Formats: sequence, structure tokens, C-alpha cells
Amino acid sequence: MAEREGNIVPEDEIARQETFMHSVRELDPGADRKYFIHTFGCQMNENDSEKLAGMLESMGYRRSGDPEECDLILFNTCCVREHAEQKVYGHLGRLKPLKARRPGLVIAICGCMMQQEEVVEHILEKYSHVDLIFGTHNIHRFPELLYRAVTGHSPVTDISSGDGLIAEGLPIRREHGVKAWLTIMYGCDNFCSYCIVPYVRGRERSRRMADIIDEARLLGRQGYREITLLGQNVNSYGLDMDDGSSFAALLRSLEEVDGIERIRFMTSHPKDLSEELILAMRDCSKVCEHLHLPVQAGSNRILAEMNRKYTREQYFGLVDRVRDKIPGISITTDIIVGFPGETDEDFEQTLDLVERVRFDYAYTFLYSRRTGTPAAKKAGQVSEEAKKKRFDELLKLQNGISAEINAKLAGTVAEILVEGPSKNNIRMMTGRTRTNKIVNFAGDPGLAGKLVDVRIERTGTWSLDGTLV
Ligand code: 5AD
Ligand code: SF4
Repeated sequence: MAEREGNIVPEDEIARQETFMHSVRELDPGADRKYFIHTFGCQMNENDSEKLAGMLESMGYRRSGDPEECDLILFNTCCVREHAEQKVYGHLGRLKPLKARRPGLVIAICGCMMQQEEVVEHILEKYSHVDLIFGTHNIHRFPELLYRAVTGHSPVTDISSGDGLIAEGLPIRREHGVKAWLTIMYGCDNFCSYCIVPYVRGRERSRRMADIIDEARLLGRQGYREITLLGQNVNSYGLDMDDGSSFAALLRSLEEVDGIERIRFMTSHPKDLSEELILAMRDCSKVCEHLHLPVQAGSNRILAEMNRKYTREQYFGLVDRVRDKIPGISITTDIIVGFPGETDEDFEQTLDLVERVRFDYAYTFLYSRRTGTPAAKKAGQVSEEAKKKRFDELLKLQNGISAEINAKLAGTVAEILVEGPSKNNIRMMTGRTRTNKIVNFAGDPGLAGKLVDVRIERTGTWSLDGTLV
């Protein structure tokens, strides 16, 4: 138990940061200060940004959609693929003239990219207009760092290594009003050979079950209807604690939380998806019939090279067991094409797996070489051209399957949790089925947050259209 407490930011440190929040607020009490946060990457980063926004609002900043008028611009970065990194550099470069015009503007950058030494060095050297740099492990120290950046000499950098502590009780400003992200664990111990996450997010650390349940209860009281539990590998939740906590037990406890109607989670590693968890999913009426189960590749040789610790046959067996226990469940996945050494035959195995499993949806990625990972050093890096060709072929196959699966839903009635007006057509409302399919329908904006029944009328590859019944 003593060890557990050692994982959590002590209360007096949180109190110290509250003092810094107060100090930032008092620097210029009457000022109308605005902030803009640009978030890259996964939902865990989005959830971190919500906490950073919460701290900023406690420090007297107001959110703005226009970076040009802001006093603080913060980039929360991702380094899973090179493309995300390049985008950050592009944005940073474009801010140089704005900073020259408005020297009081604070430009801050945080997140996974900042956990790589060479990236920080590059930014300090090439982007001298950046004022504040911090990593993923210490976001609770943001008030102190911001205070130092505003009052002292920039740039302020705080890149601690190690695994980072879990901070409870930070203020939060959530993006949505109906559904909420709820991070249940940090870090990853899996070391898939292509992936940078274990190096930048540290070892797996689970939040205490009581803290998670308290947060869910608060969300229920605040009117949120859906929670999505987040972690790099939620199936191993609790394994780092010896108090009997497990993901299955957590789901069963969250099922009892008043106000919350739907529970989702991501991401699940196939090697850790236990029978106990499948049964909990089956038994808990609030746990939605959707499983995101990244397969990454269809060839056993590539799966072994990726250090995924399962075979395609084991994956098929898992999908069968899940579909047997939870009929109608939708299964989505992540797939990487062009892993080093992937041959045409290996890729054929991926296509074959996709045809056999028939995923509802697949997030497909071109392999991106990440310095520091074992795969980056492997011989047989696949050319960009070959990767792109495989990517297009895979996408075409998957899009056809998604469209066919969705077409079968025409004429059925589905329960939708209404999220609000559709972004593409403000006269339409949008929501999701329990199986996580987007449904647009004509309806009153007052329906946001309600569960309604919709008859599906038109179906496409990525969304469905229907009418209220
Ligand atoms: N290149 C391409 N895709 C990657 N992913 C993780 N690392 C890489 C990489 N180096 C993908 C995996 C993972 C998803 C979040 O990102 O498919 O499941
Ligand atoms: Fe990366 Fe693998 Fe961990 Fe997912 S499970 S974050 S792919 S190392």
C-alpha cells in the first residue's frame, strides 16, 4: 500500500500548484486573457488537454477559437507517427511572426514529443519563440511552470523522465457535455517493437478504483451520460496493484453508477482480453457492444516481429468467443502496413485476416519509423511507394466491408445517445448507436443527452441516416 501512495502526487503538492494558480490570476487580475489549445494524437491527450484547460480557466484564462487573439497558445503533441510531429513543427514555424508582433504571447508545448531529448534540443535551437516546454509526466505542475514562464526568463523547460505520478483532483474543462473521457491508467509495458509509447509514457500505472468510481459518480451527477475509460491497454488495469483490482471488476462497479447510461473503453490488447472481461461485458447492461481490438497485422511472422505475443489463429479464436458471448457486437481494429520486412505474402495475410474477421471499421496506418524503437533498426524497411499501395488496397477492402455491414442495418431501429447538432449539417442531430456507429437524424437540439430510438434509413461507409420513431 505504501508503494501505491508513492504513485500519487501528494496533496500538499497539489495545494502548492493551487497557490501558483492564484499567483497567475493575481498577476493581472482585471485582464481578459485568452487561451488556445491544439491537441494532437489520441484520446488520452485530449483528456490531458481538458485538464490543462481546467487549470488555465482556474488561472483566469478564457478559451478562444482564434489563436491570433490569444495570450497563450499550447500544443499538446503526439509522436506515435512522424506525420503528427511534422504538423507540430509546421504550426510552430507559422507562429513566429505572431510572437514578433505580440511579445507578451506565451507559446507552450507539451505532451509525448517533449519526452524525447532530441526533439526538445531541436525546438530550443530552431524555435526560439517557444516559452514553455514540458512533458507528459508532470502536467499537474503546469501552473508553476506557467508562472515562471510569465514572470521570468523564457524558455522554461521541465522534462522529467521516470514514470510520472498520478495527479488526482485537478480542475477539468471537458470538451463535450454528454460524453466524457475518463483515464483509468497511464503508460504501457508492452513494448510492441514499432511503438514509441512505452518510452514516452513510462510504465503502466493504474489509478485507484475508488478514485475512478468517484470521478464517474461526479460525471453522472453533472449530467454526463456516457464515459469512455482510457488507457493504452485497459485489459491490464489493476495488475500493478495487489488489491484485487481488475478491469472486469472495475466495469462491474461502474455499472452501478447513477446517471451514467453507457460505458465504453479503449484500447484492449488481444493478449490480455480475458474470459472474465468478456463475461463482464456481457453481464453489464451499460457496457456498450463495441470492442476496439487492434490486430496490427495478419501474418504470424510479422506479429512475432512486432512483439504482439499472439498469432492470427489466437486472434480469430478471441473474436469468435467475443461474438459468441455478445451477439451483434461491433469490432474495430488498428492495422499497420509496411512494417520492416513485410513482404507481399505477409500483406496478403493481412488482407485475408480482414476478410475473415469482417471488422466494422479499421484505423489503418503507414508504418512510421520511430527512433529508439527496435523496429527502426530492422533491415528491410519498406519503400514509401509500396506502403502507400498496400495502404490503398487495404482501405478499399475495409471500406467495402464497413459499407456492407452498415447496409444490413437499414430498416432496423437503434438506440442512439444524442450528442448534439451535426457538425456538417446544423439542421441535423447526431449521436451514436451502442455499437459506436454515427447516426444523423432530424431532431430538436433539446434532445442532446437523451437516449432516443431511430429507424435507420440510409447507410454509408462511415455513418448512418435515420428518423426518430
Ligand atoms: N507506425 C505506424 N503506426 C503506429 N502505431 C503505433 N506506432 C506506430 C508506428 N510506428 C499505431 C498502432 C496503434 C495506433 C494507436 O497507432 O496501430 O494501435
Ligand atoms: Fe504501443 Fe503496443 Fe503499448 Fe499499444 S500496446 S501503446 S501499440 S506498445
